Amino acid sequence: PDGVGVPFSFGAIDPVPSDVDELTVPGGWAWEPIVRWGDPLFPGAPALDPEHQTAEAQAQQFGYNNDFLAILPDGPGALTGLLVCNHEYTNEEVMFPAAQWSTRGRELRRAAMAAHGMSVVELVREEAGGPWSYVVGGARNRRIHLDTPFRLSGPAAGSELLRTEEDPAGTTVLGTLNNCSGGVTPWGTVLSGEENVNSYFVGSPTEEEKRFEITASPTAHGWESVQRRWNLGLEGCRNEANRFGWIVEVDPQDPTSTPVKRTALGRFKHEGANVRVDPATGRVVAYMGDDSRFEYLYKFVSRDAYREGDAAHNRTLLDHGDLFVAKFAGNSPAGEIDGEGGLPSDGAFDGTGEWIPLTRDGASAVPGMSIDQVLVNTRAAGDAVGATAMDRPEDVEPSPVSGLVYVALTNNTDRGAKDRNLSEELPADEANPRTKNRDGHVLELSERGGSAVAERFDWSILLVCGDPAEDSSAYFAGFDPARVSPISCPDNLAFDSTGRLWISTDGAPSNIGYNDGLFRVGLEGGERGRVEQFLSVPVEAETCGPVVHDAENMVYVAVQHPGEDGSHAAPSSFFPDYVPERATPAPGQVRGPRPAVVQVYRP
Ligand code: FEO
Ligand code: CA
Ligand code: CA
Ligand code: CA
Repeated sequence: PDGVGVPFSFGAIDPVPSDVDELTVPGGWAWEPIVRWGDPLFPGAPALDPEHQTAEAQAQQFGYNNDFLAILPDGPGALTGLLVCNHEYTNEEVMFPAAQWSTRGRELRRAAMAAHGMSVVELVREEAGGPWSYVVGGARNRRIHLDTPFRLSGPAAGSELLRTEEDPAGTTVLGTLNNCSGGVTPWGTVLSGEENVNSYFVGSPTEEEKRFEITASPTAHGWESVQRRWNLGLEGCRNEANRFGWIVEVDPQDPTSTPVKRTALGRFKHEGANVRVDPATGRVVAYMGDDSRFEYLYKFVSRDAYREGDAAHNRTLLDHGDLFVAKFAGNSPAGEIDGEGGLPSDGAFDGTGEWIPLTRDGASAVPGMSIDQVLVNTRAAGDAVGATAMDRPEDVEPSPVSGLVYVALTNNTDRGAKDRNLSEELPADEANPRTKNRDGHVLELSERGGSAVAERFDWSILLVCGDPAEDSSAYFAGFDPARVSPISCPDNLAFDSTGRLWISTDGAPSNIGYNDGLFRVGLEGGERGRVEQFLSVPVEAETCGPVVHDAENMVYVAVQHPGEDGSHAAPSSFFPDYVPERATPAPGQVRGPRPAVVQVYRP
């Protein structure tokens, strides 16, 4: 048989048109939510009541727009465990009645702040492979939101660039923001990426802030009307935006622990971070993407080695080390990448690459920039060393089976049309081979010598996404396009125990016209490039956080922003409660859509 080990079997579902408000799973599988927006996490916390939502209630409830997801059983086959989840952003027009903005807008804005951040929730189940329930009042339950103190650590902690009037030492930040994807470290902590944090700040931007896409326009969330710190123009607030855009590390086992922002990993629009231990040296390597058009791919290599079982030591690993940015070179004859599809004459989109140091041995490796400047304005450091502008790097994840590294490049319709400054054209290249890249692609990186700490790599394109029935440039590593599920906008990645790649998508409805979903991709032998769709999410939702525990026949997804184009008064999705029309919602249910974490299992 092809591949590594035996995958669990399912019949791939047909792609689901984008007007279908259902969560669709293969025959013989069932789904149910584990926890939904507004579910109470603590004793005495109220059930969700969107007509009367308060910040105090929300701070005790599961947050909005669940994205990254970790499911951590307390041991193999354990009947207890933890769910850890990011709450990336809020859709206020869907969450709250429009009429309330004029009378209690301040409270709604504070409730939206409390719906951001992260949740840690205890789980229980009756048998391995059976569905979990969450525990109200679990001893490890925790909400992290915009009032939660974070410690800044690493080389930029205390930097002048991170000091504000509220925090003159530049070492403590209130809250985490726009947490997108993340990863679980080998030492059991959770990493979470602060992504589009620019959209919460207002103020005449400096050059550095413009490079971070901060603008002078009032924000959609309007928090600048509630708290001073979101207005960079106010006295003492200038640096507040510099205190977001980091990788944060949380110990989910200890609800009293102070979460940490790791400045050694740089500041950009972090999708997430995935860590592995280099087998030869024991040093740990974190792979990271900066999710904007024409942004870069990064990796961090720790100075010190991982020590099995030494939690205190391992929690210092991400504070000392070198930060690198990727530069790609193609190997096909010049002029063959025309951006319109078709393989180059050497038969593959492939080539070599180098990891260019931005910091080295605790100092800046970029001429003219201090280490504080490199870490706070990391995009500018990447510009200075000639990093390769990519088509929106999302999850970057090493295979635990093969050691190869996979990069989801979600899309970039500006490729070949504009550059990031929206002025000149940045053409297709071999690593980003499609002009107006609507459907995205997936890269496979092989570190030289199989060493995670190598400074050179080889690469090839695994998938050029799309619907092969309509797009002849879609490419599936040579697999027969007539036998794959159409896929568009790869975002989050995961692996099962056999080393097969799982991809969740964000943006398929507006591109190939199908709902977003979760897909399994073979990587080895005759099944390399075979894409099979496992599930599909409801109207206007994105599929996030996939977790695949194939030994237990369990798959988990975070269903983010269902019905996001609707409104509170006129919902466009009714997931997951599906309260019948004119019926009174049962206790704990609501009529409109709710982001929710879903488990898929074999009943
Ligand atoms: Fe929040 Fe990059 O997706
Ligand atoms: Ca080539
Ligand atoms: Ca994402
Ligand atoms: Ca995305």
